[in-house]
Amino acid sequence: MSFTADHIIGVIGAGTMGRGIAQIAALHGHRTVLVERDEDTLLAAREQLDHFIQRLSAKGKISDQDAVAAFGNLHFSTDLSAVKDAGLIIEAIVESLEVKQSVFKQLEEIVSKECILASNTSSLSITSIARALEAPDRCIGLHFFNPAPLMKLVEIIPALQTAEACTMACTDLITAWGKVPVVAKDTPAFIVNRIARPFYSEAIRIYEEGMAEPIDIDRAMTQKGGFRMGPFALMDYIGHDVNYKVTETVFEAFFYDSRFVPSFSQKRLVEAGYLGRKSGKGFYDYREDAEPLISTASDQHLQDIADRIIVMLINAAYDALHYGVASRDDIELAMTKGVNYPKGLLAWAADIGLQECVDHLDELYDFYHEDRYRCCARLRADAVNSSTSS
Ligand code: NAI
Repeated sequence: MSFTADHIIGVIGAGTMGRGIAQIAALHGHRTVLVERDEDTLLAAREQLDHFIQRLSAKGKISDQDAVAAFGNLHFSTDLSAVKDAGLIIEAIVESLEVKQSVFKQLEEIVSKECILASNTSSLSITSIARALEAPDRCIGLHFFNPAPLMKLVEIIPALQTAEACTMACTDLITAWGKVPVVAKDTPAFIVNRIARPFYSEAIRIYEEGMAEPIDIDRAMTQKGGFRMGPFALMDYIGHDVNYKVTETVFEAFFYDSRFVPSFSQKRLVEAGYLGRKSGKGFYDYREDAEPLISTASDQHLQDIADRIIVMLINAAYDALHYGVASRDDIELAMTKGVNYPKGLLAWAADIGLQECVDHLDELYDFYHEDRYRCCARLRADAVNSSTSS
């Protein structure tokens, strides 16, 4: 099984993600059928895709000819049966297991036996979506990041039932589309959304304990950590409704493991309707008359904050490695290409020194006596091995 540009790609759902995925497929020469149940949304998607593709040619990123061809590859429909000849369908509809299962069941009745059915879900189990199908071995997760045309990473998640050939065909196709594929075990939040949790949660924890203000913590992570955005600015940008929901879902999916516990400060922001940039207020105030904030934290304090959040991220990366969520290389690629981390977290651990990371986590654990600060067994073992081998 392998894909060529002759294969038709079906995309279900013309929201934020569906539009981006359709744009990628069309630009790579596939006849692409975008299906959306809401007519106005479909029209808006058509206009936006036309605009985006024209902009690419105006900026000289693609030729005028390729722009015309790409837009010509796009077909729009409100009827699911428009994807009947597709070789691959990528679903990007509402994040609900029942709705996704129902759409997958309908698709199975429409398409050929060879057609691969993929979901762009960010939090649901692919195995449970596949369960709805007569032939679950053709079901897979293809998790793009937002904005899909710009973000290089795609997490490929085979369900327990997925055929190896299906995973290989999707990996090859994603590579041919100029993306970076990483294979993730079908576990909650896959790779990126799992490992990145402490970026937000440890930052909020430091703030909630009164150790620093959001502006200090953001400065620590950008200036000392080298991240493009600090955690509070990023949460305000994503929107607290979205970010809080992901945290809550991950917490539940990990059987309420205390490492993933959501925070009251963020819950209250959601309750107040302070959703971040989009509502004019979140952790920061975005209104015109808002007082500019100044961080007065010392250099050492900023370093301590960054070190603490980074060591928690390293621990999460080791945990994912320990439980076989992905290979060492894929964990590194996922965090650098999926969320633009300045360095792979496993390489970062080696730079700091594995034993230093273990000692830092043990210090936190000794102080708090909370499970969230437990050091991953793999990190501790690797630290011992690296000290005996050197
Ligand atoms: P969205 O709300 O922007 O778009 C979903 C679209 O699907 C809507 O236009 C809706 O009318 C349409 N839809 C719902 N049911 C349908 C059906 N039965 N048939 C056809 N169209 C239908 O949602 P968004 O943000 O694009 O997310 C879609 C999926 O991608 C979700 O599973 C989400 O978890 C996942 N995802 C979202 C990311 C993001 O940053 N927004 C990132 C990665 C994954």
